[in-house]
Amino acid sequence: MESKILVTGGAGYIGSHTLVKLLEEGYDVLVLDNLSNSKLETLDRVTSITKKKFEFIKGDIRDKNILKEIFKNKSINSVMHFAGLKAVGESENFPIKYYENNVLGSIVLLKEMALAEVKTIVFSSSATVYGQHSNNRYDEKTPTKPINVYGKTKLIIENILRDIKNSDDNWSIGLLRYFNPVGAHSSGFIGENPKEKPNNLLPYVAQVAAGLREKLFIFGDDYPTVDGTGRRDYIHIEDLSSAHVRALDYIQKNKNILFTVNLGTGRSYSVFEMINAFEKVSGKKIPFKVVERRIGDLAEFYADPSKAEKLLDWKANFDIKKMCEDTWRWQKNNII
Ligand SMILES: NC(=O)c1ccc[n+]([C@@H]2O[C@H](COP(=O)([O-])OP(=O)(O)OC[C@H]3O[C@@H](n4cnc5c(N)ncnc54)[C@H](O)[C@@H]3O)[C@@H](O)[C@H]2O)c1
Repeated sequence: MESKILVTGGAGYIGSHTLVKLLEEGYDVLVLDNLSNSKLETLDRVTSITKKKFEFIKGDIRDKNILKEIFKNKSINSVMHFAGLKAVGESENFPIKYYENNVLGSIVLLKEMALAEVKTIVFSSSATVYGQHSNNRYDEKTPTKPINVYGKTKLIIENILRDIKNSDDNWSIGLLRYFNPVGAHSSGFIGENPKEKPNNLLPYVAQVAAGLREKLFIFGDDYPTVDGTGRRDYIHIEDLSSAHVRALDYIQKNKNILFTVNLGTGRSYSVFEMINAFEKVSGKKIPFKVVERRIGDLAEFYADPSKAEKLLDWKANFDIKKMCEDTWRWQKNNII
């Protein structure tokens, strides 16, 4: 039997796009997802895009019996671990839910990996682990001090992985800190499809353009930036998913390492710049209303992506226009 990659959370936004890349690169894949924030149809669409088959098991990473079965019977040699809850606001209101799903879930997964001697993992971390700093450009040496529960769960899991590595050198671990993933697959078949009101700017803008929401709320236009709105580092989902395949390749080839990298473009765009770009691409006017700043929001931050570029021989290629075009194509055609 050939060896397989276990992709936890593979039906989700980032997982499904990475699944496409993995299948296109010829990897054999098994997806484990409890579909708590995704739909089975997304996986059918991945098959339509790639014309490739893969296995899917509906299940929870906190279920050690499912994991035991998978590691016993499926010849898994590496794991890409996307499964997790990601809504910052919700994490503040329901901390136990987040610690249980993200931290406990990862512990159950890692324990079963160790028992099965599967010691290669790429983990979805987040720029949220950095928290607030006075400089805008974050490299991987920037101190970590997350200011919300979600970010804390990510840092705890990173630290668990570091401790595991310190205790057993046979592990190979890639910790990927994403900045702001946006966009959709260029086919328009898969994209971000928030079940609730979108937490992120671009899906919200897209829903306003599509007439699903009346207007966009901009949280503050009095930041010390050129146009007064907050600036973020947006990275196209296809660039982000390519980085995952590079990271997996890297830890499979260079055994016994742990690395941490930022995944971003290295430049920021303001809310108004994003709105303007989206209006051009869609031909739609985006009505907006400026409201109070949100607590904890920064004026600007963006990645120093040079470590990922060097280590993984990877670079984010897609610009703001492509981010908006792909988001709009997905929004117009495919609400699933
Ligand atoms: N999207 C972002 O802006 C962003 C930024 C930084 C980091 N991340 C991280 O990347 C990962 C993927 O994010 P996404 O945007 O694709 O989110 P998503 O919600 O679209 O995907 C997560 C997937 O995991 C599944 N899942 C959740 N808990 C599970 C569990 N206990 N067992 C099995 N499956 C479970 C969900 O059903 C979903 O399909 C997450 O860990 C997230 O925290 C996301």
